[in-house]
Amino acid sequence: MHAMQDDMRSLPKPVLYDELESSLRGLLAGEPNLVACAANMSSLLYWSLPDLNWVGFYLLDPASGDLLVGPFHGKPACVRIPLSKGVCGAAATERRTLVVPDVHSFPGHIACDSASNSEVVVPIVLADGRLLGVLDLDSPRLERFDDEDARGLERLVRVFVEATAATA
Ligand code: SME
Repeated sequence: MHAMQDDMRSLPKPVLYDELESSLRGLLAGEPNLVACAANMSSLLYWSLPDLNWVGFYLLDPASGDLLVGPFHGKPACVRIPLSKGVCGAAATERRTLVVPDVHSFPGHIACDSASNSEVVVPIVLADGRLLGVLDLDSPRLERFDDEDARGLERLVRVFVEATAATA
């Protein structure tokens, strides 16, 4: 598994995201539990994509209306993010993927890990239109993420939503 993932890191992005989509489908197949799927998806992305220091989920807490940290890979992170704060809050509120080339220039960015220099956040919207939360990836490299990453990660989030539809 590790050897395959190390090899994957050097693939051109379109091929890498095709491979990741098929790995993710296999990994999530037959298991609709949200936490189980989110945990394994975080691990798959962390070990398959180059130059990351954090990958994980923030899930909308219906009671408070905040985003709460969910399964992730990386250093311990901020627990609760109001929808009005940070890149995660903005992506969730606007329901669109945000690519931030330099987090230090993003007004209101929340620094959970001082190693992070760039970030991409993908909203997770269920088939019935409900917002489940966001998928957040951080990198120590400036301008790590581009449109290909955004579209590729959106495809992976769709696979996650389909797989967990029964329990979300
Ligand atoms: N930087 C994010 C907060 C989450 S951490 O990066 C894990 C933000 O500004 O929303």
